[in-house]
Formats: sequence, structure tokens, C-alpha cells
Amino acid sequence: MSKPVILTGLRANNDLHIGNYLGALLPTVDMAVRRAGDYQVNLFVPDLHSFTTPIDHSKLQAQILHNIKVFVAAGLPIDHDDVHVYRQSYVPAHSELTWILDCFTGFGEMSRMTQFKDKSAKLSDERVSVGLFNYPVLMAADILLYNASYVPVGDDQTQHLEFTRDIAERMNNQFGELFTIPLPVPKQHEFFGKDQGLRIRDLTDPAKKMSKSDETGRGVIFLSDTPEAARKKIMSATTDSYGEIKYDMRERPGITNLLQLLGLLSGQTQADVNAKWEGKTSYGDLKKAVADAVTNFLTVFQSKLAAVDEQAVLNKLTRSEAVANGTANQTLLRAQKAVGLRA
Ligand code: ADP
Ligand code: TRP
Repeated sequence: MSKPVILTGLRANNDLHIGNYLGALLPTVDMAVRRAGDYQVNLFVPDLHSFTTPIDHSKLQAQILHNIKVFVAAGLPIDHDDVHVYRQSYVPAHSELTWILDCFTGFGEMSRMTQFKDKSAKLSDERVSVGLFNYPVLMAADILLYNASYVPVGDDQTQHLEFTRDIAERMNNQFGELFTIPLPVPKQHEFFGKDQGLRIRDLTDPAKKMSKSDETGRGVIFLSDTPEAARKKIMSATTDSYGEIKYDMRERPGITNLLQLLGLLSGQTQADVNAKWEGKTSYGDLKKAVADAVTNFLTVFQSKLAAVDEQAVLNKLTRSEAVANGTANQTLLRAQKAVGLRA
């Protein structure tokens, strides 16, 4: 019996920040470490998704390899045989199954996707691509090709997973057992443990989450920031005028964000951090402690990243892509036969 499949996409086309690291990379790496052995863990780079909105194409190649190395530096166990790391565009079946699924997907169904509505609202009409519109169909193909049951989804992706289940059910009803239907969202949360609540805040505007879309970059600590630059950003973080440290995300998001970063990056529990700092009045001392933790983290992380063996990563991709093509082509052939494209 083959092992049940866990599958997730590793975003390729942006510089990652410590919000992504703490909220997405580390949980993915921990999941792979814990589940490999009992499960097959497919981690793929959705490179075809990278330009559903406009990007600088001259940077994409380097960015893809860089971000895979970031995952390896964060501890992704690429030497484990149950862990597969592959690039979507190296498995042509993703594009081919997408076309077939496209023809069974309603225009209205796609128009209701809230992520499409949000993202397209930020672009002028001529920049809203058909690729952005039917991107959930590609995502469904990503999942269905590998018979994946488990797909960790944040809130922004739940609608896409529900669509994946709908289209799989629709095709199975019409053509017989074609696809494995991934578990419904509540079951996914049960399986992965829903701790998607973590939201590191922007340092200059703690009402917002830290995000790459902050143009100034002053409120964002990128994994590639020099420790000195990161220290400056922490030291000038926006706090409040209460004059006393207290963990309270609602009323005091700036200070609370700093307390949270200190806990997460220094390996102490939040309770221990709070017990040490709450009631104190020197925001400067707290900032200094956070800056030390952040610069320490960056120094260690960046030296791990520099030590990642690029050839080992490329070899892993080649091996995984061969395996992925094998599985994906089997599923594609089932679908092609069902719709009459193959005898
Ligand atoms: P960004 O907002 O920088 O564009 P993305 O939307 O590309 O980030 O998110 C990539 C992943 O990182 C997602 O899984 C998301 O939940 C996580 N993530 C993004 N920002 C944060 C944050 N500030 N704190 C915690 N996790 C985050
Ligand atoms: N859409 C996901 C995101 O924006 C990335 C992704 C693409 C994905 N295909 C997937 C995630 C399949 C899980 C399964 O973060």
C-alpha cells in the first residue's frame, strides 16, 4: 500500500520575511520532519502560479532556487525518501490536467473566488489575466494529480480547496472513480492542528500584518536583511504611549508584536517572556533584547543558507521530478481516457 499523501506548495516569487518564516516555513518544515515515514510528503514550487500577477521574469529562475534553499536552511529534510521536492512546470501533467478541468469548471464558480476578487481589484483591467482567474483550477490539478488527501490550508486558500473537492466529485460522478478527494477543510485543520492564527505585525504599522507588499520595507524584516539593518528596524519599531509593557494584541499591538518575536526567536515560551517583561517601563530595553534575538537568528540562519549544498538541492529536484512525473502521468492518463482523449 502506498502511503497517504500530504501536499503543499512553497511560494517561489518573493523575498521571504520573518513573518513568512515563522508563520509558514517553520510549520511546513516541522510537518515534513514529523510526518515523513508514515506519509508521503510532496512539497512543490508552484512556479506556474508565479506570474498570475505581473512579475520581473528575469528574476524568477534565481528566486525559485533561492527559496528552495531557504526551506533547506530552515531544516527541510531533503534526504528523506518520503519527502519529494519538485517544480510544477517540470511536470507537464499539471498544465494538461488543468485544461481538462477548465472545461468542467463554471465561469460563475471561478468568479466567486474571493482571492480573485481581492487581487483583481488591485490591478487595472488589462493586467487582470485569465491565469489569475483560473488559478484555482491549476491548484486543483496540483492536488488531484498526486491523490493527495492532506493539504494544509490557510484561510486564503480554503475556498480553493473546497473547489478542488467539488471538481473532483463532479468528475467522479460523471466518469467513475478518477480522483482521490482531499479531506474537507475542518478535517484538514484537525489533522494539521489549526494554529494559523500567528500573524507577525508590521513594525512601523502594527495594525497591519508584516507583508512583502509594504513598499518602504521599514516595517518588514527580510531573511536577507543584514543584522545591522534589522537592528535599526527593531529599534525604531512603533510602540505605544502607555509607558508600561503589557502583552495585549488588541490594545498594544506594537509592544505585543515585539514580545511575540522575542518568544519565537529565543525559544522561550510566551509565558516566560511575558513574566520577565510585563510591568517594566523601558521600551528601549525590550527593543534591545528583541534586536539581539533577531540579529542572532539572522546571523545563524544566513550562515546555514550559505552552507546549503546547491548541487544536492538540484539532485533532489531531479530525483523528485522523475517520481512526480510517474505519478502525475498515471492520473492524467486516467482523466484523458475518461474524457475520450485516449483509447
Ligand atoms: P505576504 O503577505 O508577505 O505577501 P504571503 O501572502 O505570500 O505573504 O504568505 C505566504 C505565507 O506566509 C502564508 O502561508 C502566510 O500565512 C504566511 N505569512 C505571511 N505573512 C505573515 C505574517 N506577517 N505572520 C505570519 N505568517 C505570515
Ligand atoms: N495557492 C497557494 C498559495 O497561494 C499555493 C499553492 C498552489 C498550493 N498550488 C497548491 C498550496 C496546491 C497547496 C496545494 O499559497
